[in-house]
Amino acid sequence: MKTFTSTTAGAGVIHLNIDGRRYEVDAEGKNLLHVCLSLGLDLPYFCWHPALHSVGACRQCAVKLYRDDADTRGRIVMACMTPVTDGMRLSIEDSEARAFRSGITELLMVNHPHDCPICDEGGECHLQDMVVMTGHVYRRYRFRKRTYRNQDLGPFLNHEMNRCIQCYRCIRFYRDYAGGTDLEALGAHDDVYFGRQTDGTLQNEFSGNLVEVCPTGVFTDKTLKMHYTRKWDLQTAPSICAHCAVGCNTIPGERYGTLRRVRTRYNGEVNGYFLCDRGRYGYEFVNSERRIRQPSSADAAAAAARAVSGSVVVGIGSTRASLETNYALRRLVGPENFFLGVSDRHLEVLRLMGDVLRAGPAPISSVRQARQSDAVLVLGEDAWNTAPILALTLRQASMNAPAAAAMKQKRLNAWDDAAIREAVRHDTGPFFVATVEATKLDEVAREAHRMSASEIAALGYAVANRIDPSSPAPPDASALITEAAGRIAAALMSAERPLVVSGAGLGDREVIRAAANVARALKKAGRDARIHLVFPQANSFGAALVAGGGLEAAARALSARGGQTLVIAETDIFRDLPKNAATALLSSAAHVIAIDHTRTATTEAAGTVLPSCTFAESSGTFVSSEGRAQRFFSVMPPVDPARSAWRWIDELAVAAGRKPAAWGGLDELIAAMTANVSVHEPQPPRDPDSPLVYTMEGSSLGAPASLNARFWAPGWNSGQAVNKFQAEVSGQLIGGDPGVRLFEPPAEDRGSFFSPAAAASRDGRIQLVPRHEVFGSEELSALAPGIASRIAPASVALSAAECRRRGLEEGGMARVSVDGGEPVDLRVVVREMPDGVASVAPGTPGLPVMAVPGPATITEARS
Ligand code: SF4
Ligand code: SF4
Ligand code: FES
Repeated sequence: MKTFTSTTAGAGVIHLNIDGRRYEVDAEGKNLLHVCLSLGLDLPYFCWHPALHSVGACRQCAVKLYRDDADTRGRIVMACMTPVTDGMRLSIEDSEARAFRSGITELLMVNHPHDCPICDEGGECHLQDMVVMTGHVYRRYRFRKRTYRNQDLGPFLNHEMNRCIQCYRCIRFYRDYAGGTDLEALGAHDDVYFGRQTDGTLQNEFSGNLVEVCPTGVFTDKTLKMHYTRKWDLQTAPSICAHCAVGCNTIPGERYGTLRRVRTRYNGEVNGYFLCDRGRYGYEFVNSERRIRQPSSADAAAAAARAVSGSVVVGIGSTRASLETNYALRRLVGPENFFLGVSDRHLEVLRLMGDVLRAGPAPISSVRQARQSDAVLVLGEDAWNTAPILALTLRQASMNAPAAAAMKQKRLNAWDDAAIREAVRHDTGPFFVATVEATKLDEVAREAHRMSASEIAALGYAVANRIDPSSPAPPDASALITEAAGRIAAALMSAERPLVVSGAGLGDREVIRAAANVARALKKAGRDARIHLVFPQANSFGAALVAGGGLEAAARALSARGGQTLVIAETDIFRDLPKNAATALLSSAAHVIAIDHTRTATTEAAGTVLPSCTFAESSGTFVSSEGRAQRFFSVMPPVDPARSAWRWIDELAVAAGRKPAAWGGLDELIAAMTANVSVHEPQPPRDPDSPLVYTMEGSSLGAPASLNARFWAPGWNSGQAVNKFQAEVSGQLIGGDPGVRLFEPPAEDRGSFFSPAAAASRDGRIQLVPRHEVFGSEELSALAPGIASRIAPASVALSAAECRRRGLEEGGMARVSVDGGEPVDLRVVVREMPDGVASVAPGTPGLPVMAVPGPATITEARS
């Protein structure tokens, strides 16, 4: 008897008979398609998607259902629309059911161009798989086919509408799931067109998922098309997205030494089936012209070793580098000489977040757990732009409470997507957002508040105080904040699984402390509350765990300890420090050694530069916002002399006599690749840092989930094959989802409520805060051509009232001055935001991240 246990709480055990075999499943209330796929059975489908659930539109998943043991005729039902009940008897193999499914496929294929040989989807196409699975082999239709004009949809997606089978998945994902508005089902009768009203770039930040959601080749990856390679010719490896701290699991694909694309690697606890467009298309920075391929001189490595051996060495690590690189540098220079390439203030924020999470005011929420929350308070974080996949998940969670009510009232099933959306309509659950600027999560919020950072902190403190009076109230809270706090506290207390989301986005410690108070108050009140704090970079959490101080501390150490050599690993200190401070820091060292894979202002200024590897050519570990340590593996060997930054550092340590050799893997690798000149096919080169070899051959069936870079099973060539690797559809991968959570909440809360700090004086100046964008705020992805074309021009945003007060006009120029830096002229944009506040994008040329948040002077620029 085959069994599976559902991960859904409250499910009950039921017995099924499918084609004469008995099954026991712990999945009461699930639909038959979900159960059949979870049992490993093959059943075709199109309109159903494991994340989008059922609408019963395509009629492809037909099975024969029998009333009881005596019933010999049965009736055809759609598996995706039929709830499982105890004692069910059904047949997938029944000849009528097979003929029905084959007939549906034939109809769907009537207008399909059958252009598989030249289709980018060929070889990984769900439609191809389903045609074979249904047994439809012969084309009888002999007439003209319907044809369409395709659209230019921007840098990410290619459009070939003739291949459409009208399953509506694209619209359901783009509009219903991701909140996009510019993709539509247009037309009438059998002439439905899935596209925009006019040509133009699809605006939604998750548009790239259409490549994987569309079961045919209508939407394909335009960046892959530039250097197209069939799926089976791509070398892949399990990887982690390097472009924010959500830690989405990815499958990069390589061919002939260039990275060709990135696809989703399912991780039930993290990103599920999706990626954001920054994560999918940011990969092109790996092939960028700005890559550093050679050392700064022929004897750079030897010169670096000499510099390291004879002097006090100070090291600056990185929030975008792996844990291994940071740790290797710390070991080389000693803990007292190791600093992080962020401002001291930035590091304080990261440390505070780490301390809060480890103290455990409430357990940390994974992305999956965020999906299950029934009330959400977002304090200060524009998660749509700082942690896109988390925000996409929160968008779904906003429907949980109204959906639960509708299910109870109208006796609907959780998977009945169309019925639930119809019942819920525009009803919003207890979802509250307090941010400086409008965010795309406002659309699903019951209340969206526009507040300054100090007001957001006050709101958080007030909410916590309403829930638990022993949590200190904010001084001088306005009536608006007090009233909003009352409503929010009541809603959170009415929920079973409330979630508090905040993070480093505003760079404000008070906002984080207030969020911790709310989570702690909820937990103390007996709620199953969770907290999620968004870290800024892929390894900000991990790097902060090993760092001593920030950049200002590094500058002080260099002058105090007479440091002569500075080693900077994969960080651009000009992003966080004002230009004069960064230049002064570099010139205070006799030798500056920069190890990086991409040219930056820091590598340009360094005396010695050593070329390191991106995530694609090296292996390592990132620690996500959830505190999940996840390994990424090299998808292609580094091209000599480039090597992982941690390997350069280790070699410097050995050459300088600072530590014994720990590994000699690179030499062995090169020897294996060059000595094997024979008539035989050489063995695939081994990756010395992982259990993998560089090859596109081999089966991933049975591989541990964390090492699997390919979802393929017999008959399942598309990514939908993931169902063969899951313990249950949309559940954990067999063997467990990849990654290890480093911090579980202590048995007892080790912290106490924070007290509100006194507000800092701004001397009448405006408060400048960071404005994060999916496209442009992250350093490496901004170098990808597709992403670069989506980056908005540099600007400063203010409210309309603030503009009037300062004599500024939308589209005009403003001069922005912050402490320690030269004034910068920026275009003015008017946004819905509080007075007394302005925002700029982090990384705006001339405005170091360190300066934001902070008081600034903004005047009209007169040139
Ligand atoms: S474009 Fe793709 S996803 Fe959309 S309806 Fe057509 S086949 Fe389905
Ligand atoms: S949400 Fe973050 S980690 Fe996930 S794909 Fe986007 S940038 Fe990458
Ligand atoms: S998958 Fe069941 S009707 Fe479309």
